[in-house]
Amino acid sequence: MLGMLETRDVAALGYHSAAQVHLFTEVMRRAFRDRAAFLGDVDFHPVPVAQLLDKRYVASLLDDFNPQRATSNDALRPSSVPQPESTQTTHFSAVDAAGNMIGITYTLNGLFGSGVTATGTGVLLNNEMDDFTSKVGEANMFGLLQAAANAIEPGKRPLSAMTPTLVLKDGKPFLVTGSPGGPTIINTVLQVITNVVDFSFNVTRAVDAPRFHHQWQPDSIRYEPFFTSPDSVALLQSMGHRLASSRLYANAPEADGRSMGDAESIMIDPQTGKRLGANDPRSPDSAAVGY
Ligand code: DON
Repeated sequence: MLGMLETRDVAALGYHSAAQVHLFTEVMRRAFRDRAAFLGDVDFHPVPVAQLLDKRYVASLLDDFNPQRATSNDALRPSSVPQPESTQTTHFSAVDAAGNMIGITYTLNGLFGSGVTATGTGVLLNNEMDDFTSKVGEANMFGLLQAAANAIEPGKRPLSAMTPTLVLKDGKPFLVTGSPGGPTIINTVLQVITNVVDFSFNVTRAVDAPRFHHQWQPDSIRYEPFFTSPDSVALLQSMGHRLASSRLYANAPEADGRSMGDAESIMIDPQTGKRLGANDPRSPDSAAVGY
């Protein structure tokens, strides 16, 4: 609210004048609207603090302020908190009216790719060479150990974990899913599919559910909390498995590892044909939208 008032001469309006009460009311209206939309305990819910405090955003909130008229809540412009661009691999799924499905995963590989922008374009170049085996026996940035089969050669494509996936049921479009997350992508997609097909979860539960990941090397199960009961963790350890916990959501305070993926998925209900969109709560920027 102070940000909205920053450029205005509040004192000049006169203390408790109608003009001051009007301006303050319009400021309060907008701040409380955003409070209702975005705020909650940051330990449980990602709050876009930087975006809400962005000076351009705050200044824009009073663009539709009319010094003569109260803004009706119904006419208030929808909040347009600027969404931060994803810093990493992105996946999206879509289904059109005819039932055609697409799943697209695209990547720069590492954060900001190679860190190099093609001059004059603003386009960042990737560092996909790390998906090749640069040296047999050396782990790449995702800890993957790979063999000579994936060595660098002219014209060759590196191995990729990206797995945008279309699932058909009785030959008809049923589920589209995929995810970012390096090697965890493969196991994220595996678990979303089996959650739906084998465990009969609806698509939202299938996407929300905690995941686990094993990639041969390192020999350890990385798991998001609560994937199973404490008894099961002890049982797995007694079977000889090593376990490392991972955070469930990006800003979880107890974090000791990254959450796994961002599996934006759509299921088509075979009975009703309804498109059931599931955005992954691991990503604060994700959304399921209809048109
Ligand atoms: O294609 C691959 O397997 C990697 N380049 C994917 C990288 C990735 O998902 C990073 N982000 N989260």
